[in-house]
Amino acid sequence: MRISIASDHGGFEQKQQLASHLEGKGLGVVDRGPATEESVDYPDFAKLVCEDIQSGEADLGILVCGTGIGMAIAANKMAGIRAANATCVQFAHLAREHNDANVLTLSGRFVAPSDNEAIVDEFISTPFGGDRHARRVGKIMALEG
Ligand code: RB5
Repeated sequence: MRISIASDHGGFEQKQQLASHLEGKGLGVVDRGPATEESVDYPDFAKLVCEDIQSGEADLGILVCGTGIGMAIAANKMAGIRAANATCVQFAHLAREHNDANVLTLSGRFVAPSDNEAIVDEFISTPFGGDRHARRVGKIMALEG
């Protein structure tokens, strides 16, 4: 599995840590930046990760900002993207099982690094449930027009 990851300044530190965590598990990691903690605009980085999902360069995306909210709003503007902001393991599980989320957004300021690691682990290891959920996700995607 290949994972594309990025952040803004609010999520930079945890993005670095999560990228190492994923590499330590033997997963392919595409780090789309930023490379420093300097202030940046989160939509620019959401776009890079979502383009990796759209092109097939990555299977799943992870975006970290202060809350995860701005990243989710930005990512969900892009075609084919289902981004979910998870602040607990259960939300990460359900975002994959029920919503077939392909991008996870995280809070670098309000969720502890160890909790975000557990959230990421749940997200990448939970399969989509299909069946009735597939019908509902199909209806979500039809909203793109
Ligand atoms: C940046 O200060 C902050 O707005 C950003 O990290 C994020 O929390 C936005 O949703």
